[in-house]
Amino acid sequence: MNGAAWAQATGGEFPLGALRELSAEVPAAREEALLKETEALLYAVAQAVEQRDPHTARHCERLAFTSVALGMALHLDRPSLSALYRGGYLHDIGKVGIPDAILFKPGPLTAEEWVVMRSHAVRGQEICRHVKSLAPVLPIIRHHHERWDGTGYPDGLRGAQIPLLPRVLQVADIYDALTSPRPYKQAYSPKEALQIISEETERGWRDPEIVTLFFRLHDGVISRIDEYSLHAAQLPESMQRALGSLGEALHSSEGAPGPASVRTFFPPLQSAPLTGSPAAATGRSHTE
Ligand SMILES: [Fe+2]
Repeated sequence: MNGAAWAQATGGEFPLGALRELSAEVPAAREEALLKETEALLYAVAQAVEQRDPHTARHCERLAFTSVALGMALHLDRPSLSALYRGGYLHDIGKVGIPDAILFKPGPLTAEEWVVMRSHAVRGQEICRHVKSLAPVLPIIRHHHERWDGTGYPDGLRGAQIPLLPRVLQVADIYDALTSPRPYKQAYSPKEALQIISEETERGWRDPEIVTLFFRLHDGVISRIDEYSLHAAQLPESMQRALGSLGEALHSSEGAPGPASVRTFFPPLQSAPLTGSPAAATGRSHTE
């Protein structure tokens, strides 16, 4: 029906503008739905990667919540918290391309095996980079194995060159890996894990301010992270509720933190004797 026929039949003007708007919305809505489906598919892949290793059960979930707790204490904005949450699930998605013989090897890796293992950060970024909505998560995926002193990978970034979000997720990742059993080690107690993180910070591997924050939040929040994460299996409604619970816990843990940055609020790290990191002894990082 053309415009004149429309007017004759209805007595009104042909709603061309509305039709144009609708026709613009339909592809946009379709694209949005497709992006959500793609993102959901990537979460499924990430969970499949996690389930390849029975030792890492619920690691991603705990990591997501711990990272968000740290992010909230740093007063990060909501998009950053959302990126941390999604990064908890997606950071190791690149391991989908790492053979079991390397991923689950109980002993030290050879130099060649290291090259393959370390490729998971870049592989993961490649997998996710086509999904526009995951753009804020890409730096977490690529840089979660950088070290504060520049000895990490894949880019050897140093200090503040490393984006903040991967620095936050990294500390949570290491703590959870240390306190969980892996094919090449037993689970450490929380106290031992904090000691190891402290030693690695003294060594120059970790962001000292984020580690200080982690220690500050450990007893009140981090040690109870399972209680929060168990109640939130899916994005996004459950995330809102769980974030609310975390916010309350953080508030009671910090007293009334006010608008000042927690970076100026927390006491300096307690110095700890260097006894040699287990990671250095085995030649592999806690999170690999
Ligand atoms: Fe990793």
